[in-house]
Amino acid sequence: MSSDERKLPAISRGSFIKGAGAVAAAAGLVRVPGASAEQKSLPAGVAESLGPGAEAIELKINGQASKLTVEPRVTLLGALRENLGLTGTKLVCDRGACGACTVHLDGRPVTSCMILAVDARGHEVTTIEGLGTPVRMHQVQAAFVEHDALQCGFCTPGMVMSVAAALERNPKPTFDEIKHATAGNICRCGTYTHVFEAALSVVKISGSTSLAAAEPSPTPAKTMTSRAGVAEPSPNLSRKITGEGPELARDITGEGSDGEV
Ligand code: FES
Ligand code: FES
Repeated sequence: MSSDERKLPAISRGSFIKGAGAVAAAAGLVRVPGASAEQKSLPAGVAESLGPGAEAIELKINGQASKLTVEPRVTLLGALRENLGLTGTKLVCDRGACGACTVHLDGRPVTSCMILAVDARGHEVTTIEGLGTPVRMHQVQAAFVEHDALQCGFCTPGMVMSVAAALERNPKPTFDEIKHATAGNICRCGTYTHVFEAALSVVKISGSTSLAAAEPSPTPAKTMTSRAGVAEPSPNLSRKITGEGPELARDITGEGSDGEV
């Protein structure tokens, strides 16, 4: 996701905190009708009042309507992970700086930690879980596995979402355009070179065909080679790349886990 794509559809958490601050947090959130379906149903000039308590809302996530109850201050990232259990979208910086929480909003890559869940109403949200599964991966996910484009996997779902959105928008990007599309995604493990290779391999395979029309790729047969030079299956790899399963320490919850890495 390029840094210039971080503009938000309505009220960001940052602008909410700056503009409304403690007063709105205490008194509830008053909003002018905007993009969401619920907001559009309001008569012109009538403001929507939300909170301060939890509100029942409906979001369209990965093609399905999901009902949840959240306070207006909850981010889309928080709602996905805490309310809906979709932990494939990663929480890393929580301030719009790393891209790990990238999801698609109406096909555009956005940082879900910078969008309020209530502002996602009426939009199509796609998370890494909605892109593909370990059994039937999206072409970009399969290419990441083939090109070893992930290590710890924290940045990976966000990186995949940014690449997938870029290729959907332009099926034949140049190397520089792919770099630009992932400029907002930080990888501390330094997988950039392999990420670019993976993206370019999808360009070669799919040509000018829309990824949306293409069949998801079967899980690649690729195995990882151990340090001893022995080929080993990588059972966690396909789960990391599709966001399934609590493979990362921060995603493990329950007794004995403090939720920290
Ligand atoms: S967690 Fe959202 S940008 Fe880093
Ligand atoms: S694979 Fe570890 S941060 Fe990117």
